[in-house]
Amino acid sequence: MKELKSGVYWVGATDWIVRYFHGYELSTHRGSTYNSYLIKDKKTVLIDTVWKPLTERFMENLRAVVDPSTIDYVVVNHAEPDHSGALPTIMEYCPNATVVVSKNGLESTKKHYHKEWNFKVVATGEKINIGENDLVFIEANMLHWPDSMFTYLTGKNILFSNDAFGMHYASAGLFNDEVDEAEVYQESIKYYANILTPFSKLVAKKIEQVKGLNLPVDIIAPSHGVIWRDNPMQIVEQYYEWAKGVNEKSVVILYNSMWGATHKMADFIANGIEQAGLSYKIFNAATADRNDVLAEIFKAKGILLGSSTVNNGILTSLAPYIEDLMGLKFINKVGASFGSYGWSGESTKVLSEHLEKAKIKVLQDGLSLKYMPTEEELVQCVEFGRSFGVKLMTEME
Ligand code: FEO
Repeated sequence: MKELKSGVYWVGATDWIVRYFHGYELSTHRGSTYNSYLIKDKKTVLIDTVWKPLTERFMENLRAVVDPSTIDYVVVNHAEPDHSGALPTIMEYCPNATVVVSKNGLESTKKHYHKEWNFKVVATGEKINIGENDLVFIEANMLHWPDSMFTYLTGKNILFSNDAFGMHYASAGLFNDEVDEAEVYQESIKYYANILTPFSKLVAKKIEQVKGLNLPVDIIAPSHGVIWRDNPMQIVEQYYEWAKGVNEKSVVILYNSMWGATHKMADFIANGIEQAGLSYKIFNAATADRNDVLAEIFKAKGILLGSSTVNNGILTSLAPYIEDLMGLKFINKVGASFGSYGWSGESTKVLSEHLEKAKIKVLQDGLSLKYMPTEEELVQCVEFGRSFGVKLMTEME
């Protein structure tokens, strides 16, 4: 039995196995957890459930704390199936329980499960008294779905924040002070970069709104990963910083190459980046993990895309990144393109156009070289990297 505070329990499920989320879109190298919480007051409250395949484990954890038929309220902070998958099973045990949802949560829950449960729609600031303490609700539209909502438990000072402030991270320890801090940081920023970046403006506003409520917060209990007990507001401050854009003095060089010419260009461009006093990371688009690379792009100010020309365009391994760069809407990035070609040579034009479409400021014309670079052309690559680095530094002044 895992207790957050007296009468408040973690009853979720740890998934040590999962390596992909959202189908096969998001890598989860360190597994994940589906956090569900049970509050015992005069009323019994369940906050969120788990992904359906882990229902059995969840029910075991829940039964260790409470008889499921005695649950009075089930709060659905967000109806994405990783948190609502076990809801139909729970409702078989407590069919008369009140299902608490946001206005948008009413639609998403009904559209997922097509059940007429006893719904109660709550708006920001509404309270439900559960005995000694109250549940206070805060709608969090687009953090990261229209239905997303936070629930705050008075008396215990716990903010149940659902996906916000979470990370895909399976661990034996339940709290942030019981696990490797560096791993948690990496998984948190990867989660933010890959899921929350498009909503950064809303993230900043929501944080300002929640802080304005002046609620004492002892614990932030998200729906994935560890629970923030040691200095819980650190993740809130971190989100506020991330929402403004990170943009460290560094460059991600992301390329693919058919016969090594574009690869060679990437290496020599990196030399130039270094000469300009910047750090860099190089990734091959076909072999790297896309979500890890996107987290690195989120951190860096600059991105250089490289591809050989094929079929008058680019190598297809770059295409998913381009789609994500447009969708994730990273803030204040700068970029440029490079690539080798045999005859037509469109790749740099195509890549630069995609950077512009993703609102990434293109600092210089693409560097396009025919076949394998000569010694002189490699010097050109170094100069390309150096001049990009210098321009990037100017942009940051
Ligand atoms: Fe963890 Fe939006 O689901």
